[in-house]
Amino acid sequence: MQIKDQVVVITGASTGIGRQTALSLSKKGAKVVVGARREAKLQSLVAEIKTNGGEAIYAVTDVTNFTQVQNLIDLDVSTYGRVDVLFNNAGVMPVGKLNDLSVAQLEQLVDVNVKGVLYGTKAALPVMHQQGSGHIITMGSNASHVVVPEFAMYASTKFAVRAIMDGVRQEEIGQNIRVTLIAPGTVNTNLYESIGDPVKQQQSKEFVAVHGMQPEIIANAVVYALEQPENIGVNEILIRDVEQAD
Ligand SMILES: NC(=O)c1ccc[n+]([C@@H]2O[C@H](COP(=O)([O-])OP(=O)(O)OC[C@H]3O[C@@H](n4cnc5c(N)ncnc54)[C@H](OP(=O)(O)O)[C@@H]3O)[C@@H](O)[C@H]2O)c1
Repeated sequence: MQIKDQVVVITGASTGIGRQTALSLSKKGAKVVVGARREAKLQSLVAEIKTNGGEAIYAVTDVTNFTQVQNLIDLDVSTYGRVDVLFNNAGVMPVGKLNDLSVAQLEQLVDVNVKGVLYGTKAALPVMHQQGSGHIITMGSNASHVVVPEFAMYASTKFAVRAIMDGVRQEEIGQNIRVTLIAPGTVNTNLYESIGDPVKQQQSKEFVAVHGMQPEIIANAVVYALEQPENIGVNEILIRDVEQAD
């Protein structure tokens, strides 16, 4: 399908993969509706898209709050009349042994990485049913498939969204709704700022500097999933630097 004129909602679009995907899709003619918590970053993203001749709007959106997620979808529908694509991208990655992570960090992982995906999907599906089509893309990870020490909790959230998306895919058969999980290995973004422990953060940043994929690679995967014929669901794209083992 052509990306031109599709209306795409992206959560966690203030930085990293979400931001890059908004830029890449708008260059192909999509209208993008971006959400995240940091308003100044959303404003500069929208300004950049408009300067490049694209169309974009934003709403400050904390994905842990269903009302704010619903408002993002409502803003989209009142402006553009439809939601062709929802990209549930927002995520955080505090890292550490379960025993060492705080209760607040555990809750944040579930609230952003899992509930945020549930809320986005729940808000978008009724609109997609009404319009008779739609595409839900969710950000998984290589950690949707593998778990290593200190990533038990992060991986559990990414396993969960893989299960949720495959369930939604099957539940929505007959509704003309496509479902895709994008599952990258290490990507060179600010995600590693959310690790928490300064020593682990430094170690991870060193690995990222050498083996982190650029966000454009992940945005290209989103483009691939969107550009397939309407009857083709690209259900998952698992993508790693060739030197990344797990
Ligand atoms: N980088 C990697 O190696 C990698 C690998 C696999 C998967 N991923 C996944 O890719 C996604 C994007 O991460 P990234 O790598 O692009 O990192 P990033 O640059 O840190 O982006 C994370 C985004 O999530 C948003 N976010 C965090 N908490 C939020 C909340 N409560 N409500 C709304 N937005 C929130 C942030 O915006 P605000 O702070 O402005 O709200 C930011 O825009 C995440 O789901 C991550 O798990 C990343």
